[in-house]
Amino acid sequence: MERSLILVKPDAVLNGHASAILNRIESKGLKLIACRMLKMDEALARKHYAPHVDKPFFPSLLTYITSAPIVAAVFEGDNAVARIREIMGPTNPANAPEGTIRKDFGENIERNAIHGSDSVENAEKEIALFFGGYEIMDY
Ligand code: RTP
Ligand code: MG
Repeated sequence: MERSLILVKPDAVLNGHASAILNRIESKGLKLIACRMLKMDEALARKHYAPHVDKPFFPSLLTYITSAPIVAAVFEGDNAVARIREIMGPTNPANAPEGTIRKDFGENIERNAIHGSDSVENAEKEIALFFGGYEIMDY
């Protein structure tokens, strides 16, 4: 059984799509085992997006991801990481297939509505950044 971290990003929260996005994942049979709303600060954003620190888009990404509240959640299920990436669609909403979250809710390659872990290893690291063990439900 895998776990994956998702973040409903600032654009989607501001546009009122937070619960719709969680529902896209939950309705595909993935189990919601942790959820909270927060505003990321720069320190957390730097840790979460550490692999991108040298990318040209990193400064803009930091500004964007700390600009408004987000919803952080953990979903559990078989192949959760890959299944959620498929439900999300590719990074750029312009290339996203019909019915994906980024096609339906993303605005552009940066303001793309949702983050999802890209590997089981990164999921474990990311979950630990956002949740204490006591916040992850076993049911
Ligand atoms: P994420 O990590 O947020 O789930 O997205 P991803 O794997 O699909 O994309 P990634 O390459 O990890 O990029 C992280 C986030 O940085 C912003 N980005 N902006 N302006 C640009 O060219 C650009 N490229 C990426 C997006 O918010 C992307 O999701
Ligand atoms: Mg990524």
